[in-house]
Amino acid sequence: MSNQPFTVATFKERKVSKTPVTMLTAYDYSMAQLVEEAGVDTILVGDSLGNVMLGYGSTLPVTVEDMIHHGKAVCRGAKNTFVVVDMPFMSYQVSAEKAVENAGRILKETGCQAVKLEGGVEILPGIEKMIAAGIPVVGHLGLTPQSVNQLGGYKVQGKDAATAQKLIDDAKALDKAGCCAIVLECVPARLAEKVTASVNAVTIGIGAGSGCDGQVLVVNDMLGFSNGFCPKFVKRFANLHDEIVKAMQGYKDAVTARSFPEEGTHTFKIAEETLEKLY
Ligand code: KIV
Repeated sequence: MSNQPFTVATFKERKVSKTPVTMLTAYDYSMAQLVEEAGVDTILVGDSLGNVMLGYGSTLPVTVEDMIHHGKAVCRGAKNTFVVVDMPFMSYQVSAEKAVENAGRILKETGCQAVKLEGGVEILPGIEKMIAAGIPVVGHLGLTPQSVNQLGGYKVQGKDAATAQKLIDDAKALDKAGCCAIVLECVPARLAEKVTASVNAVTIGIGAGSGCDGQVLVVNDMLGFSNGFCPKFVKRFANLHDEIVKAMQGYKDAVTARSFPEEGTHTFKIAEETLEKLY
């Protein structure tokens, strides 16, 4: 892998060379450092932070301020990685002007390299304005969690001819507008392959099969941070939940038994004569 920084141009190069683009989410400084150290190409500060960091039941309550707060921390932790920050619900749907204003704020205040927003032709005017203003844009089609109430749940999208065709049309429209990448979430693998072949933009799949130009996963899911529900498309590359709970129990037991902190190893000294002067 080259040491060249990953830029918008790299997406195009990877499409041509058929070299997969790797992306993981991160929401804070420490995790961003780890993702960068692992050499993952790109980081997404997803609005999934609403679920995994803030404990909401959906991404809908997430605000522009939340995204900027977490985006800044991630950019401080991963100074040499291409960072994409999600635009939250209702920060780009009201008008193209409002959309470009919020995208500009996110880019300026976080130091990220691109923004991501959910939807197709209906949000095209805002996307075109952003790209005209010099803001790189990543699209997001298929299961778009901000529309969960309209979709009637978190379900696979594009299974019938009409919705599959709309997905292809939307991808072509985002591509023509100049999106550098398009996330395809929870769509049949064969449909994702067809979309990937129809656009110049890099497709980044999550629950969309291996025919996409790249892959993204929510970092908490792939690290096994929680032992709760895990979507079918997630592979757990570690089981940190059990490791972390075990470590915390070990700490509790050691403190309770007074075997931590250990004299000399975890403690600091003071001269006896200094102590004797104290009253
Ligand atoms: O918010 C997020 O984490 C995302 C990914 C699931 C692609 O949009």
